[in-house]
Amino acid sequence: MCGIVGYVGKEKAQDFLISGLKRLEYRGYDSAGIVTLGEDGKDTLVRAKGKIVNLEDKLKHNKTADRVGIGHTRWATHGEPSEKNAHPHRAGDLFLVHNGIIENYKELKKELSDHKFESETDSEVLAALINSFYEDGKYPLVNAVVQALKLVKGTYGIAVVSKKNPNEVVVARSGSPLVIGVGHDETLIASDASALLGHTKQAIYLNDGEVATVTANSVDIKTLNAEPVSAKVEKIETNLAAIQKGGYEHFLLKEIMEQPDSLTETLRGRVNLEEGIVHLGGPGIPEAELRKIKHLVIVGCGTAYHAGLLASYYIEKFTPGITIETVIASEYRYRQAYVPEDSVALIVSQSGETADTLACLREIKKRGVRTVGIVNAIGSTIAREVDGGTYVHVGPEISVASTKAFTSQVIAMVMFGLTIAQAKGVKHSILKPYVTEIARLPEEIGKTLKESEKAVKDIVKKYADYEHGIYLGRDTAYPTAMEGALKLKEIAYVDANAYAFGELKHGPLALIDDRFFEFALLNKGELYDKAVSNVQEVLARGGHIIAVTNVEKFDLAVESVIKISSDIELFMPLLMNLVSQLFAYYMTIAKGYDVDQPRNLAKSVTVE
Ligand code: AGP
Ligand code: GLU
Repeated sequence: MCGIVGYVGKEKAQDFLISGLKRLEYRGYDSAGIVTLGEDGKDTLVRAKGKIVNLEDKLKHNKTADRVGIGHTRWATHGEPSEKNAHPHRAGDLFLVHNGIIENYKELKKELSDHKFESETDSEVLAALINSFYEDGKYPLVNAVVQALKLVKGTYGIAVVSKKNPNEVVVARSGSPLVIGVGHDETLIASDASALLGHTKQAIYLNDGEVATVTANSVDIKTLNAEPVSAKVEKIETNLAAIQKGGYEHFLLKEIMEQPDSLTETLRGRVNLEEGIVHLGGPGIPEAELRKIKHLVIVGCGTAYHAGLLASYYIEKFTPGITIETVIASEYRYRQAYVPEDSVALIVSQSGETADTLACLREIKKRGVRTVGIVNAIGSTIAREVDGGTYVHVGPEISVASTKAFTSQVIAMVMFGLTIAQAKGVKHSILKPYVTEIARLPEEIGKTLKESEKAVKDIVKKYADYEHGIYLGRDTAYPTAMEGALKLKEIAYVDANAYAFGELKHGPLALIDDRFFEFALLNKGELYDKAVSNVQEVLARGGHIIAVTNVEKFDLAVESVIKISSDIELFMPLLMNLVSQLFAYYMTIAKGYDVDQPRNLAKSVTVE
């Protein structure tokens, strides 16, 4: 689920392995390790629990000039985070790093009584399994790897090296990403292209069911059924500046603050303000078919799910005769849900690698439903497997908490909805206000961020000791409240939940007491008065309300108020969400937690 790196070439392998692992740190992990192999048959295996600095400390006494090696950051699924469970795992002469889960590891383990297991991981079982074939004479290494993988159920990205041939690395994937970087007299391996920057911009993305033997000057790919695959070398679009902090203390703050620019990238070439229309080429759906669409299924996890939910509120406002179901991927993949004819599925994912979302995509495709990706990571698995798609183009999102991707996912989906509405002939006067506001959003986001940062910092002083929060909103502010609560939970470890204002008296109102604060999103609009009544109900019970509002003459006697002065109306919840993002950030700082790598979480969830 976390990081894999590998190196074979003319330089010292340890240098790339460590710098590559550091680039992958943002994905969240709990231990790390590397192994390098010398020409003399000697191996140097170093592993450490915790951060990569711990690994670096140990490496000071284990420096080598070896020119081949593999490394890993682990996000524990089987066995606690510890040095012995950290990868690489050894079996005989070979070493393996693995991302993912070997689901049938118990059955396989029973057959491997010759191997003395040192860890509790499923991954060591795979190492031992490969070695059992290798020792049985299934040379070269790749043959043993293929034999073993044919018996495996689950997901994996792996890299394997052997002391018998310290000039090659064997890699394979099924459900967990792997990229091969092609350099000059060196070949690099990573689970995420950002680790390769500074070394090469030429990358080969491995597909599921493929295995490759990599040397300093060659990449030989075939399928598990031994069919040769011709490697497609692609250019890595990201640059180094995009994955650095650019003067900010944390990636999260940088990513919150760069939303005016990241949304501009999402909109580039897609909005025609003069005519008041949008144009999305990526989905590739002919106009006649757009007209026929009656149903949308929007699939995502976490923040991507919230983005889908918020977008659905918008799309159903301006597209008549359309039903929309927004679903959590981990649930939907096992439901027997009926997908009506003339449906399109929107598959939403920042990383493009989330296992549950990918599984839904595959399931939905099997049923003959057209799929459209709303993805950020270029070349990711979901981006490659959807029928068409719209990249959100927000650049690398490094912090585990998703911020800039959310804003752009919502707008990309609304633009997709507008594309359908345009094709269906919805009146221009209905659609134009959406297009006009979308075009103005980057600037208004910039202003709101500037305006609210100080106000947020001030109120955080008052709320930093709270451990419970309730986020409230109505209509489009409700999914926005859900996203705000997730952010606070995720990085500030505050037990925050979101409710639709109207649901309060159906249960949550019982919670109101001095241990809770209420984060109320109060935007002008048809339902404002109703939300105000709900606020009164909370006030009457002694609630500690933080109101975020664009109402100029706001006179409710709440504890704290954050005003937004922008005249944006339809998309006001997206501006309010900026306040939630900043609130979560500064609460985390006040509580002294790790902003960019919250405990227990990983950036890209490639296991179920
Ligand atoms: C967001 O802050 C979370 N880290 C998480 O909910 C995330 O949005 C979810 O895992 C989906 O990821 P994806 O967009 O890469 O598919
Ligand atoms: N399942 C493996 C383990 O627990 C791999 C985890 C990962 O993807 O980091 O070690």
